[in-house]
Amino acid sequence: MRNLCAYALICAALMSCNCNSKCDQNKCCQGGDGKNAVVEAIMSRRSIREYKPEQIKPEELQTILECGINAPSAMNRQPWAVRAIQRKSLLDSMCNAFVEHIKQNADERMLKRISDPSYHPLFGAPKFIIVAADTANKYALNDRGMLIQTIQLAAESMDIGTCTIGSFMDYLRSPEGERFRQQLNLPEGYAIDLGITMGYKAQRPEAKPRDKAKAQVIE
Ligand SMILES: Cc1cc2nc3c(=O)[nH]c(=O)nc-3n(C[C@H](O)[C@H](O)[C@H](O)COP(=O)(O)O)c2cc1C
Repeated sequence: MRNLCAYALICAALMSCNCNSKCDQNKCCQGGDGKNAVVEAIMSRRSIREYKPEQIKPEELQTILECGINAPSAMNRQPWAVRAIQRKSLLDSMCNAFVEHIKQNADERMLKRISDPSYHPLFGAPKFIIVAADTANKYALNDRGMLIQTIQLAAESMDIGTCTIGSFMDYLRSPEGERFRQQLNLPEGYAIDLGITMGYKAQRPEAKPRDKAKAQVIE
């Protein structure tokens, strides 16, 4: 486990080397097999919105979670709490309550979405990881982003699918979501922030376009 996380960190450090313009993105800073595992994981990750029903292996989950908590955080405060929910009855009741909540409160767009028979708030993922952040720590939201991305890349390196979830969390944060929050054993003062669906992939989406002009080199 330590070796895997150390390897990920070494690869990340290697990635920060100065690739010149002749260097192909996937060939730069190659590992022994001719590929850079971190670059491969970054470039192949997609948000997965269809999952197989079976759980990922416990050892895969442990590796992913351990990688997650090895993400950097300001002053190493680690102002996060991670809860991997895989109890089907809990996930089902959360999803059912969410749908009922939408029926009573949501706008036309959401009502149209839930009327689709294939709609599932968590895309049928067998596991939902909730990330809570310490509201008293001013860097907590940045740190949480680092942790989520680390989890997603570790999962991708094992061909395990993930999708960041924001919308569902609004419900879990609401007064109606309190009964679910109580079951998560969260520290005092930690707010539920974002979630991650996780499971074996049942789809292989194409990459969405990226705006290359967002990243510029100032010579
Ligand atoms: C903060 C955040 C919240 C998101 N919330 C949702 C969500 O509620 N539902 C969803 O289907 N995707 C959600 N996504 C996934 C984005 O739609 C997705 O990352 C983006 O479209 C780029 O696609 P890609 O991840 O496949 O590269 C979220 C992503 C982020 C970073």
